[in-house]
Amino acid sequence: MSETLALLGGPRVVDTTLKIRWPIVTDADKAAVARVLDEGPLWAQSTDDGLFAPEMTALEREFAEFVGVRHCLASNGGTAALHMALAAAGVGPGDEVITSAFSFVATPVAVLHQSAVPIFADIDPRTFNVDPADIERRVTSRTKAILPVHIHGVPAEMDAINALADRHGLIVIEDACQAPGARYKGRRAGALAPMAAFSLNGTKNLAAGEGGLFVTSDDTYRARANMVRMVGETLPREDRTMEFQHLVAWNYRAQEMPSAFARSQLRRLETYNAQARANGELLTRRLHGVPGVEPPWVPADCEPIYHKYRIRLREEDLDLPLRGVAFRDLVRAALVAEGVDAVTWLEAPLPAHPIFQRRDGYGSGYPWSIAHREYRYRVEEYPETQRLVDNSLVICSELHPLCCQPPRLVEQYAEAITKVFSGRSALLEAADKLGAVQA
Ligand SMILES: Cc1ncc(COP(=O)(O)O)c(C=O)c1O
Repeated sequence: MSETLALLGGPRVVDTTLKIRWPIVTDADKAAVARVLDEGPLWAQSTDDGLFAPEMTALEREFAEFVGVRHCLASNGGTAALHMALAAAGVGPGDEVITSAFSFVATPVAVLHQSAVPIFADIDPRTFNVDPADIERRVTSRTKAILPVHIHGVPAEMDAINALADRHGLIVIEDACQAPGARYKGRRAGALAPMAAFSLNGTKNLAAGEGGLFVTSDDTYRARANMVRMVGETLPREDRTMEFQHLVAWNYRAQEMPSAFARSQLRRLETYNAQARANGELLTRRLHGVPGVEPPWVPADCEPIYHKYRIRLREEDLDLPLRGVAFRDLVRAALVAEGVDAVTWLEAPLPAHPIFQRRDGYGSGYPWSIAHREYRYRVEEYPETQRLVDNSLVICSELHPLCCQPPRLVEQYAEAITKVFSGRSALLEAADKLGAVQA
């Protein structure tokens, strides 16, 4: 292994031709989609017997079985599935929903769509998941629900979250968009709370392009969520609950082609998840003990799916005059030069996101602007999330995620990371070259 960093003109460690592009589309996937085009229908048709959509209906049955719940409803996105769950829970104007400060913005935006108020809790620095103790501190008389996120495919601390929800009479909804197939104490994500939402977005481990899956074992929640999916309509043979009969809702219906693609991919999900796990464990083994790097920690009772593999950067180990974002950006540049996909997923805690900082309502005249004006989101209240976004990098990218990369490439990634962190003087020279701002 050459000592000279690729950033300083040395040879690159990684053979980038080994990278495999995601999602993988097999002949079986193509045949499944072609079958829909050949035979139809292309959309969920309303009939006297309910929705006629053979692929969507089969996907719902198969995914519910996979998760271990009674019902699944396919939708056109994970955000839609989250919104269906929040609406089904009866979350409404002015209600507070506690969620993680470290997630994709879709999580709190789904709350806004019910005219409710997202309240952020800080994360546990070890798992990057929402900290149950901080959730509990933020419960008020307006709190209606808790929306934990299984971030990066590691289940949140669900026993503690469910217990505090019970104590305060709150409903729990899992944002399992990054965690299809992950397990917590043996049970699958999606079966850990009364309702959950998954994403089929093309970057996920179950990647059908776009799409979402709502799951529950409760008949009433299913019926309500189905109305939200169907512009508020009650369908024949559904529970015609008067309360929800004239719901204002969206069209969140799934399509047949993505449903067929998702069904075909679901057959390989366990294989991809196992590959992600093997690759993640390989990286963790190889990076353990490298000064300046802290591999992710996974609780013993969780089986993760490593949707993302995030390392913390410990500049203090290297005694470099660079801190936080400056150090992160230097490491990132050095890794990318070596051929490693290294990305910053989320540049700031969610409360710092412009939509939560603006005070003029939220643009489109939605009623949520009214409830929201009372709230001030203070980024200082989320030190662990801030530290994480400033001092960490995701290894692998959405185009080349861990779940489909060959072990040989992952070995080279470990070698490249070790190389970058092994030379303090080389990093200093690279910092000079990049004009990095010193602490
Ligand atoms: C944690 C989380 N929540 C919600 C979503 C929203 O899912 P979608 O993009 O399918 O609407 C995503 C993915 O994009 C996500 O990662």
